[in-house]
Amino acid sequence: MPAVVFVGTQWGDEGKGKLVDMTTKNANIVVRFQGGNNAGHTIMVNGEQTIVHLLPSGILYPDKVCAIGNGVVLNPQILFEEIDALQEAGYFQDPRQLKISPLTHLIMPYHIALDNARETARGKGKIGTTGRGIGPAYEDRANRSGIRVNDLLDWELFKQKLRTNLDYKNQILTKILGAEPCRADDFLEQFKVFSERLAPLSLDVARLLHQALRNQDKVLFEGAQGTHLDIDHGTYPYVTSSNTVAGNAACGSGIGPTQLGLIVGVVKAYTTRVGGGPFVAELPEGDPIGDHLQQKGAEFGATTGRRRRCGWLDLVVVNNAVRLNGLSSLALTKLDVLSELEEIKICTSYDLNGQEIQTLPPSLKNLEACQPVYETLPGWQTDISQARSFQDLPEEARAYVRRIEELTETPVSIISVGAEREQTIQRIDLFG
Ligand code: GDP
Ligand code: IMO
Ligand code: MG
Repeated sequence: MPAVVFVGTQWGDEGKGKLVDMTTKNANIVVRFQGGNNAGHTIMVNGEQTIVHLLPSGILYPDKVCAIGNGVVLNPQILFEEIDALQEAGYFQDPRQLKISPLTHLIMPYHIALDNARETARGKGKIGTTGRGIGPAYEDRANRSGIRVNDLLDWELFKQKLRTNLDYKNQILTKILGAEPCRADDFLEQFKVFSERLAPLSLDVARLLHQALRNQDKVLFEGAQGTHLDIDHGTYPYVTSSNTVAGNAACGSGIGPTQLGLIVGVVKAYTTRVGGGPFVAELPEGDPIGDHLQQKGAEFGATTGRRRRCGWLDLVVVNNAVRLNGLSSLALTKLDVLSELEEIKICTSYDLNGQEIQTLPPSLKNLEACQPVYETLPGWQTDISQARSFQDLPEEARAYVRRIEELTETPVSIISVGAEREQTIQRIDLFG
């Protein structure tokens, strides 16, 4: 299959970065198609950890092209900080490795100010955003006042668009939200430098991908966040501001949906969530199992460092992702984190006021009223981090995987048993 898409099936942080990095070995191009630096994707190679927020997780391979598609919202400051840090660490020595669509929208300083001022104004009802300006940047894209990479490459046009935007945003910041205004003088010089650095990276990504796919090159699409943070299909309003589902791999990069080949849903072997919003299978802080998962899984946000909320695997959630993304297979991650547990639970349905349901109710109030219905399986209580084939896993672990396959009617193509690249059981070659 020339095009493979990885998307998160839960609420993000499923281990997409690890899988994309690992699969890049067999790909030619890796593309981010939505989200921005709200993402934090972790890659572990020989004990060395790299976290990328904006660059595709294929960036550690010197001979692969990485692309940022039109669907991403790009903070140029973060981009260049990330590039500089990678170059210092000996990676990304050839800038031709990276291509950025001129249609990509920029995250501006006023977007970050608005994101934070709005969260403060929401008080108790806050979403728990990453504070990176993601929502306000996507809002401007939709209301047609956004500034794109292409605009920054035309300095006079950029300054004109910036002036118009700033006048308006500062009224909102100061008069409605009671926050400080944003001043162009504070960042204009910096943006001149960004403009010069972006110029050689800007390229028609849609055309690049079209030609690559025509040549049977292998293209990997890297989703950010997860299906249940999708602006339409997620637990609205506790979501991010982009479509995180696989269909957006086409829109967000400029290829047609018929080009998307395999869609792989990344599933953490339990569930986590950062920020606010409903979470039916949550084991709240203080619950011994919840705390065990949080500690053993090192569940702290890769972007904000916040403690991730934890719970058992919720297959109502995963099955929703199977449908919404048209998943070809699942990649099951962090199975090793369950190793010490005596028994393992899977949430198979919800109880809503005495009625058993198999789907997430659209009303937030109803979703919050749902209670998890669990099935219990025996644990394996053996270290599995050295397993490299399905047969290497203890029978109980294999039974857990098989039960997931049964209940989702979807094969598990990859099993991850540790953060390192090679701590992986690859059951099929995705590009084969
Ligand atoms: P992403 O946002 O989906 O890329 O995931 P994150 O990088 O935010 O969070 C996943 C975390 O789990 C990172 O710290 C990874 O290094 C780590 N990780 C990934 N796969 C595994 C695994 O199979 N086992 C363990 N123990 N850790 C893993
Ligand atoms: P990766 O790609 C986990 C969450 C935030 C918040 C909500 C909205 O690493 O899986 P935003 O800043 O996007 O407006 O915040 O979405 N969120 C994530 N949670 N992983 C992520 O990315 C996330 N990106 C956003 O915590 O609840
Ligand atoms: Mg993450």
